[in-house]
Amino acid sequence: MAEDFTGKAGIVTGGGSGIGRAAAIRFAEAGAKVVIVDVDEDGSNATKAMIDQLGGEATCVLADVSQEAAVENMVAQTIATYGKLDFAFNNAGIAGDIVPLIDYTEDLWDRVIGINLKGVWLCMKHQIRQMLDQGENGAKDGNGGGAIVNTASIMGLVSSATNPVAYTAAKHGVVGITKSAALGYAEAGIRVNAVCPGYIMTPLVADIFERHPERKAAIVADHPIGRLGTPEEIAAAAVWLCSDAASFVNGTAMTVDGGYVAH
Ligand SMILES: NC(=O)c1ccc[n+]([C@@H]2O[C@H](COP(=O)([O-])OP(=O)(O)OC[C@H]3O[C@@H](n4cnc5c(N)ncnc54)[C@H](O)[C@@H]3O)[C@@H](O)[C@H]2O)c1
Repeated sequence: MAEDFTGKAGIVTGGGSGIGRAAAIRFAEAGAKVVIVDVDEDGSNATKAMIDQLGGEATCVLADVSQEAAVENMVAQTIATYGKLDFAFNNAGIAGDIVPLIDYTEDLWDRVIGINLKGVWLCMKHQIRQMLDQGENGAKDGNGGGAIVNTASIMGLVSSATNPVAYTAAKHGVVGITKSAALGYAEAGIRVNAVCPGYIMTPLVADIFERHPERKAAIVADHPIGRLGTPEEIAAAAVWLCSDAASFVNGTAMTVDGGYVAH
């Protein structure tokens, strides 16, 4: 692997499953100290055990990314454990029920937007504060540097007739706030990008296929490459975007989708 995160520490939200788990493992394999953040304690512990087995370094923090106090504590715990924050992969998210726009409920809208959009903003708010504060070599010079990647989706760039409205809205919002943050903090040396996965075989998608088996063939066919992606393929992009190899990449929404949005 080309990326070297030796001596670096960072956060992966949604690290207890799917894409987040694959990314946490890949960051650790590249030498990073990883804080696995999730609401799922068992999933987080399982990811940590996998990293331990590889001889990597990880710790778990339970946090609901839609709650500001929990997010603030997540960053504080990272600093208490590893002393700094070099990178973050803000990836926690839910699909929510797949119902038509006219049947979508206010509660579901608030839940999906709360986790998938507000959660990304809250994470960036407290991570960027920390990155600005720590500065070069811990000096409080307000020019800390750092790299953040947010998980959007192909549904942050396009939509489909059946994609739930709040999910599409949240992921378009993630692309938007990624650009805002990238522009706002570029001069401080902080890069912010988004990754836009196509359909990836994770528990999130397995659940969609279980509830709507009739949709599977059409969804696979929408990917010109002829298959769904793997969590590792998204993890590779996220780790690269956080690495020094991507030092001139800022404010982008990178598709990793087998060609889905190229149609
Ligand atoms: N799987 C796909 O096809 C796909 C495609 C595009 C985008 N995404 C996005 O990728 C991200 C990861 O999805 P995945 O497919 O790995 O799903 P997943 O369900 O396997 O993992 C998501 C993880 O996020 C955690 N989580 C949920 N709500 C949380 C909260 N409030 N606070 C903290 N953690 C929380 C879950 O417990 C779970 O461990 C999501 O943002 C999702 O929208 C997934």
